[in-house]
Amino acid sequence: MKIFSGSSNPKLARKVAKKLKIKVGKVELSRFANGEARVFVRDKVNNSAAVVLQSFSRPVDEHVIEFCLLCDALKRLGAKKITAIVPWLGYSKQDKVFREGEPLSIKVIAKIIQTAPFDKLITLDLHNQSIIGFFDKPVIQLSAQPLFLEYFKRICRHRPCNSARTVPAGLTGKYIVIAPDAGSIKSSTAFAQKLKLPIAYIDKERDLISGKVKIHGISKEVKDKKAIIIDDMISTGATLIETVRFLKKKGVKKVFVAATHHLFVPHVTQKLLKSPIDKLLISDTISPNIPLKPNKKLKILSVAEIIAKAIINT
Ligand code: R5P
Repeated sequence: MKIFSGSSNPKLARKVAKKLKIKVGKVELSRFANGEARVFVRDKVNNSAAVVLQSFSRPVDEHVIEFCLLCDALKRLGAKKITAIVPWLGYSKQDKVFREGEPLSIKVIAKIIQTAPFDKLITLDLHNQSIIGFFDKPVIQLSAQPLFLEYFKRICRHRPCNSARTVPAGLTGKYIVIAPDAGSIKSSTAFAQKLKLPIAYIDKERDLISGKVKIHGISKEVKDKKAIIIDDMISTGATLIETVRFLKKKGVKKVFVAATHHLFVPHVTQKLLKSPIDKLLISDTISPNIPLKPNKKLKILSVAEIIAKAIINT
């Protein structure tokens, strides 16, 4: 088995390959003079399994097409089975027709990518579970949450006053999980339960046209607490920045944020790091499109092992 990477996240592909002790296949990715994608697989794949890793990050449409062409090239070279790893499934936030006149974009994208000859698709933390229903091929959804869970368990263990090594005793009373919007209630509640922490729900509204976020309130008293926010993605950063400002106004002492997909929309990382967020955890499902300066507030956790295990076990 070999792993073949598109141009979106070769670093993650190399990490997954290392975990699996397999090679990264040689692929030349370039553009024709007229701008069309040009894919050339230089390795032999005859009758063996191939893994294709490509996040649908910026430039999204180019990465989608490159992915389809790469799968096709591998099939033509005789790949027996193709596993598609799409750590971030772009277009997944467009999972509804929000206003008359809009397409059901993720359904269209699901159709387009399924013209590529992969056998199953592995992705992480979908924006909405019902997206899986737009696929005819098997979709396996993984989560970066175990990485965040371990991080928050460690914080607890390091509390000097807590000699017991169990999570609940250390965290209760001080920490609280915050669900930043209605869509995150289910996963935030599950996360809070795993840490045996209470949860508070934010009443958030987003203007569909301007994209502006308004926070109307919160379901619980949070004064003097340390808040943990779990979200699936960061796009403009508005949800998190507004939530953190709101929480600090309500007297929250510290805010830890963990999000699986940071879409690296220009300038958003800087905005987040300048905001009153105390710690920002993200995963490496998407490669930063700009060099990231080391920052104490920012921690990137790798999903490579989670993906590698899924390739072996599914
Ligand atoms: C909302 O439904 C999602 O879970 C995220 O909170 C949201 O997509 C983040 O977007 P932004 O960073 O633009 O607020």
